[in-house]
Amino acid sequence: MSSVSSGGAIPPRPPQRLGGNLSPQTFAELWRELEPLGRDPGTGGYRRYSWTPADAACRAWFIAQATKRGLTVETDNNGNLWAWWGPKGPNAIVTGSHLDSVPDGGGFDGALGVVTALAAVDLLQDKSYIPERPVVLAVFTEEEGARFGVSCLGSRLLTGAVEPDAARALTDDGGTTLAEAMAAAGHDPGRLGPREDLLDGIGAFVELHVEQGRALAPRGAALGLADGIWPHGRWRFEFGGRADHAGTARLADRRDPMLPYAATALAARQAAEQNGAVATFGKVIVEPNGTNAVASAVRAWLDARAPDEATVEDTVTTIRSAAISFCEQHGVTLSVRQESFTPVVRFDEGLRDRIAATLAVAGFSAPVLPTAAGHDAGFLAARVPTGMLFVRNPTGISHSPAEHADLPDCEAGVRALAAVLADLAGPK
Ligand code: GLV
Ligand code: MN
Ligand code: MN
Repeated sequence: MSSVSSGGAIPPRPPQRLGGNLSPQTFAELWRELEPLGRDPGTGGYRRYSWTPADAACRAWFIAQATKRGLTVETDNNGNLWAWWGPKGPNAIVTGSHLDSVPDGGGFDGALGVVTALAAVDLLQDKSYIPERPVVLAVFTEEEGARFGVSCLGSRLLTGAVEPDAARALTDDGGTTLAEAMAAAGHDPGRLGPREDLLDGIGAFVELHVEQGRALAPRGAALGLADGIWPHGRWRFEFGGRADHAGTARLADRRDPMLPYAATALAARQAAEQNGAVATFGKVIVEPNGTNAVASAVRAWLDARAPDEATVEDTVTTIRSAAISFCEQHGVTLSVRQESFTPVVRFDEGLRDRIAATLAVAGFSAPVLPTAAGHDAGFLAARVPTGMLFVRNPTGISHSPAEHADLPDCEAGVRALAAVLADLAGPK
């Protein structure tokens, strides 16, 4: 495999300053075009779920923008988009992110990396730069796992981290399988699976992303670099009780699944605090969901993360044991199933040092940060030298309509990414 850090296939060269400044309109204009797509007018949040009309609109927008810049766009067998600048060839320098969102997500998570990549191409083309190696803009599918439950599904499939049959059988909350949703959107789900040929052709992957958390603002830095990603996973808890009348059923006779669920949510918080982890029940489905009825079932999803895998495991074991005991107290059944797990990620140090040197010449000092957020870069990192750039988030809020990055910081991201691409993809 060719690589930046180990194979010497991309020769190091002294970082060079790109002349001129970004036209302030470029990023903002692109941003304004993408901004309304998939946005809920009531909440102001995004509902860009994969293989829905909102997702199709985002894809169409990206394909049109990439094509306008002379890039050749392909949709791979897993639904990921690849826009090639220059003829296809080995040692491609890939950048990009995702366009799907969590329910009522912010506009920056994922989209910032895609818009910045397009604006970086503009900046480079404006300087008449011609890459020696292909530069590729990628948009990965179902990064958030908001519809089908497994995060980074497009990059997991690409790298073989999930079985195609298991992926095809994933269902959304309405019971539609991924296979059905893909087919309805005009894509063949029968072709899902790893793409060694694509991965073998990648020399490096660099994902730019809005910061999630607030480490850059106190340091006065517009940009940061990732050193790694905490291990994390999702577990589905099913609490099974018995539906009954909220007025007439005696408290002592009830088998109410809401009670062990509520106690388990508190236990998750406590276990996380004790272990230096984070644990969240953010999605709950209650059946039949009637005000005057004792619920028959509660399905709740636990998201747990920690600096190391043993701590994640320990935290989840503690929460599961607590849930078992609460269920026994209330005559409720319990089943717990792991839906996904992402091991710890350490990004390529050689690539990070090289990016840091390029950024320094471009006038940016970028602190190196860990992150507890998942990214497609985490799956690419298992196969190709991978790095991540963060753009300052002044409040740190993410997965929320309040997520934000200031325009000058986004533009700094464009200049930084352009410089990194020019360094990695080389001069003609
Ligand atoms: C994705 O943003 C995640 O961290 O779950
Ligand atoms: Mn996200
Ligand atoms: Mn993201």
